[in-house]
Amino acid sequence: MGQANSPADRARPAPIGVFDSGIGGLSVLQALRAELPAERFVYLADTGHAPYGERGDAFVARRTHVLARYLVQQHGVKALVVACNTATAAAMDSLRQRYPHLPLVGVEPALKPAASATRSQRIAVMATRGTASSARFERLLAALPPGVQCSVQACDGLASAIEAQAACTPDAAAAGTASTLELCRRYADALGPWGERAGESDTLVLGCTHYVFAQDVLQRLVGPRVTIVSTGEPVARQTRRLLARTNRLQAVGRMAPQPDVCLLTTGAAAPLALAAQRWLGLGLSVRSLGVRGKN
Ligand code: DGL
Repeated sequence: MGQANSPADRARPAPIGVFDSGIGGLSVLQALRAELPAERFVYLADTGHAPYGERGDAFVARRTHVLARYLVQQHGVKALVVACNTATAAAMDSLRQRYPHLPLVGVEPALKPAASATRSQRIAVMATRGTASSARFERLLAALPPGVQCSVQACDGLASAIEAQAACTPDAAAAGTASTLELCRRYADALGPWGERAGESDTLVLGCTHYVFAQDVLQRLVGPRVTIVSTGEPVARQTRRLLARTNRLQAVGRMAPQPDVCLLTTGAAAPLALAAQRWLGLGLSVRSLGVRGKN
């Protein structure tokens, strides 16, 4: 188990824990920081055990509980955001049973907002294999309004390609970018045709938090008239609602002058530091931990 937080840390207001299999959850952290600027955050990337999407439910559920327990016990988090669709699908119900008094927020593919946005009555979803084959996702599909058709693509390898791209310095990122582009093209082609006419998809749901960091590439592939829907902002608003309802919201007057974010990983520190710098403008050092343990 990694180090506990320091006595000085423990004297400060409790942070919000956010975790993902890797850097993808940074897209959710970005929205959380915009929505909740007075809050402290501890972000944990389980890079040492990624990717989750092709690993199976039992493995992902076990890791999710290990990370949740670490954040609760070692950092005394006052709320937990599971910034990973795959972990939400595999473990949200059991997490709620294990932590009945902790505000818990998960991430799910935004099928309902997409169904409201579509004009062609056809939407498409890119997700990991774990999310796409989950019972939770089946329930989301079943709840779509009649008449809205949905194509789903399990995007094996895409989260890893985005992760690898983040691990490169900007100068050396070309190889990673090429593989992200190739996979995005393959999966966008499989989901097409794209457009606004009947039979074409006009709305693309990003059902994995990593894919937000390939949004520009995807937008170019599907065309400018296709709406791309992700979940960071609704998740941040839901977190605010839960904190307010349980009297845990930090007063804005106590806003820290510096970004109050602690970045942790179970893998190498450099990729998370680079991604946080490149995508969130956070020039922070990253602590590498070994968060192990059984469920
Ligand atoms: N970012 C994760 C998600 O939203 C999982 C990516 C992976 O590790 O496969 O599903």
